[in-house]
Amino acid sequence: MPLLYRVARQNEVPIRFMLNGRPCEGRRGDTLLSAILTVEEQLRPSDFTQEPRAGFCQMSACQDCWVTLQNGDRVRACSTPLADGMHVMTGAGETA
Ligand code: FES
Repeated sequence: MPLLYRVARQNEVPIRFMLNGRPCEGRRGDTLLSAILTVEEQLRPSDFTQEPRAGFCQMSACQDCWVTLQNGDRVRACSTPLADGMHVMTGAGETA
């Protein structure tokens, strides 16, 4: 069950991406974090406790939302715009 439910921009242009190898769909204007949390119940497990994390500050300050892109880059999901065809991996130490 997703953590977030889309209540606005439901008719915005769909943006397809891969999340941990699974095809998913967000909307134009989503960040990676908002797109991921509308299809998953968490962003990733905590590096320390394995408890579910979903970002914290939502403004690129806390570093709680790192994800890995297909090219190996680690980015903050809360400040990275979703783009068509992205391959995103979540989880501690994951590489795409
Ligand atoms: S949620 Fe804090 S840096 Fe992304």
